[in-house]
Amino acid sequence: AAPGWTTTADVVVVGSGIAGLTCALRLRERVDRVLLVTKTVLSAGSTAWAQGGIAAALHPEDTPQEHLDDTLVAGAGLCDVEAVRALVTEGPDRVRELVALGAHFDLDDGGEIKLTREGGHHRDRIAHAGGDATGAEISRALIAALQQVRNDPGIEVVEHALVVDLLTAADGAVCGVTLHVIGEGQRDGVGAARARAVVLATGGLGQIYTSTTNPPVATGDGMAAALRAGARVTDLEFVQFHPTVLFLGEGSTGQQPLISEAVRGEGAFLVDDTGRRFMQGRHELADLAPRDIVARGILDVMGERGLDHVGLDARHLGAAFLEERFPSIVARCRELGFDPAVDLLPVAPAQHYASGGIETDLRGRTSVDGLYACGEVSCTGVHGANRLASNSLLEGLVFAHRIADDVTARLEAGDLAGREPVAADDDGGVDLLEGDLRIELQRTMTRGCGPLRSADSTAAAQEGLAALAARPARAADPGPDAWETTNLLHLGQALALLARRREETRGGHVRTDFPEREDRWRVHQGVTRGADGQL
Ligand code: SIN
Repeated sequence: AAPGWTTTADVVVVGSGIAGLTCALRLRERVDRVLLVTKTVLSAGSTAWAQGGIAAALHPEDTPQEHLDDTLVAGAGLCDVEAVRALVTEGPDRVRELVALGAHFDLDDGGEIKLTREGGHHRDRIAHAGGDATGAEISRALIAALQQVRNDPGIEVVEHALVVDLLTAADGAVCGVTLHVIGEGQRDGVGAARARAVVLATGGLGQIYTSTTNPPVATGDGMAAALRAGARVTDLEFVQFHPTVLFLGEGSTGQQPLISEAVRGEGAFLVDDTGRRFMQGRHELADLAPRDIVARGILDVMGERGLDHVGLDARHLGAAFLEERFPSIVARCRELGFDPAVDLLPVAPAQHYASGGIETDLRGRTSVDGLYACGEVSCTGVHGANRLASNSLLEGLVFAHRIADDVTARLEAGDLAGREPVAADDDGGVDLLEGDLRIELQRTMTRGCGPLRSADSTAAAQEGLAALAARPARAADPGPDAWETTNLLHLGQALALLARRREETRGGHVRTDFPEREDRWRVHQGVTRGADGQL
């Protein structure tokens, strides 16, 4: 079916986390018409859930070079040094601009931004807000800035708008998006937004696993749409599993409560079922080692001792300190029946972050003309095989500016032509999966492509996904649920393929059949998808 409505903008920004909001606000300063679309409401994405903070060399004794060094170590040999350099040198100014925009970070007695430490950092470098509600405060400040310009005809915001697919021109360039919009007046139903450039800032794909710290909206929509439009997706096998996610039992699926690394940064530590501090002796930073090392330590102990979780001990920090420093975490734990001041917290690793994504250069350009990617959906090269704690908000911020500047310069130079899309169907010929197959897909990915994986497990995941894809089920209702599940399938197929091919242990995962890091594998794996669906 043809789209029910069509609108035109210079730039469409998809997603309303730190990356999308920053990019839209900055673009609006110089671009005539910006359209910002988001899947549910402006504040619903992963940014608002970020607890620990945003990393930047703000302390007088810290330097961007030291931040760079720590980032490269965490990235396990696969970071792009120039991308990291851009991140760490531009980061401090971008954070100060956030403060000027109205974001309230926690301050020390001298009125300076208070800084804490997280895994993999050798300095106190993490700025935080509301104790453990950093992302929520940044999101609030950016949305407030957006509300101030909402009457400006130069920017339109459409909520409840799932990006279905990208519109492409005959030469393959992206020239807009198709959207499935629910309940938004004149923009209701399936429609098309045509544009000279599209910025995808749609976040991660955590819902591909049964348990994740990501909110329900994290279904990889932008990444899957980019893959279908021919964009190259890179490092997808590097999924980060956060070590300390509150363990609520095997049956608990979907978004799980995160216990920030900052809790360990303030002195909490991990213990096994005998009370042994098992991270000591495993790494010079012990409980504050990079998160892949900590997650691996936990998985080793769980395997050796037949446990489904380990303990996180924060009791010695005391109720008063915990309540002041981590109000959201303490409240959530108490709601669920655990008091961090009294109880050992049961924790286990769960999916947390996609270190890979749509490949971009330092300007955020993807392999497809007219298409940009920013934030978790992208693979700029700053994270390598494993993102350093609290570098994700910073990446969204720094690269949103870079993208806005590049798009603006190209528009001014007449370098981004308005193209005609070749097709504007609502389903682009994609075979949609029934939404209720999602749990089977998540179990398949969790069994096959979790933190511990092998040739057999990844092959089984590929087979399981192929069987799902072969179900003769063009969804009866081609609504958002079917699209999201189909997006998870397309990304799962790419992820499982790359996970199977990488015959070594690096970054976020352990290959049980190849337990060492191998120099010959110090390479990136990228994938593109043909029109026939072949990777
Ligand atoms: C955390 O607070 O532990 C998460 C921080 C991050 O993922 O960077």
